[in-house]
Amino acid sequence: MSHYPALRLRRTRSSAWSRRLHAETLLTPADLIWPLFVTEGEGVEEPIASLPGVSRWSVDGIVARAKDAAAAGIPCLALFPNTPVELRTEDGGEALNPDNLMCRAIRAIKDAVPEIGVLTDVALDPYTAHGHDGLVDAAGYVLNDETAEILVGQALNQARAGADVIAPSDMMDGRVGLIREALEDEGFVNVQIMAYAAKYASAFYGPFRDAVGSRGLLKGDKKTYQMDPANAEEALREVALDLDEGADSVMVKPGLPYLDIVRRVKERFEVPVFAYQVSGEYAMIEAAAAAGAGDRDALVLETLMAFKRAGCSGVLTYHALHAARLMGA
Ligand code: PBG
Repeated sequence: MSHYPALRLRRTRSSAWSRRLHAETLLTPADLIWPLFVTEGEGVEEPIASLPGVSRWSVDGIVARAKDAAAAGIPCLALFPNTPVELRTEDGGEALNPDNLMCRAIRAIKDAVPEIGVLTDVALDPYTAHGHDGLVDAAGYVLNDETAEILVGQALNQARAGADVIAPSDMMDGRVGLIREALEDEGFVNVQIMAYAAKYASAFYGPFRDAVGSRGLLKGDKKTYQMDPANAEEALREVALDLDEGADSVMVKPGLPYLDIVRRVKERFEVPVFAYQVSGEYAMIEAAAAAGAGDRDALVLETLMAFKRAGCSGVLTYHALHAARLMGA
């Protein structure tokens, strides 16, 4: 072999058909979960300033978005409520109300678009007066076991309304096992649990807290329950526990800054792994595109492909509808 170079890796890249043929990773609308924010009223759309292009919708608007999503091939929605401030209390009791905003949205979607999956967040932050995911004691510490008990009630409330996937995002210890047991006891044998297993105390959640109205209320930070961004071994322990307690799939959150965690979880456990490309990541892409730093559509598709390449089964992203339509085009 005297030829130079011995191997030309550019050869398979030299035409569009060949690049398609050699693509190792496939990105399709079926990889997307679309997070939506629900608000009270009818015919209401409230744009979220820190999340340009994303709005809160009243239940009728949410149903219309569910139809858009189904038509674009998106398999699942994730719902988050903007609870009216007068219903937010110290113990987040509105989370247990069978007729709360979330339950009404779930029922309306399952009624109008039964073929789409509905994932619901389990955590008390959209319902508490202090913006924390659980009950706080006099010193401001978020109580684990007392909170977990309420979360079980919240999960059952969502399952009874028709939720397909229960997604605990609160980071309390032991709650996945308790929720699984309660679901089994009530006969919800096919309701899935997607555990926010490795959820970090991140600076990327700001626009989300605007969207659910908890940013101004939040006292302190969430570092006593969400993970330290310095830690990866601990993420593997979190995942191991949640799987052991009965999670069907696990989530890593935020997304792009934590692709190393996605990869390690996938290689170690060989289970379905999802990532949440969170609100601050969405805002960064939008800001970059608006500043002329990159092409918006290309940035969106490249970042989503990166999640797939890292080992994700799917991605929660606010770009879901736009991305699905780009892929379908
Ligand atoms: C609530 C919850 C948060 C997000 C999803 N569920 C915020 C938080 O933990 O403070 C963030 C999602 C995003 O930023 O897009 N437990």
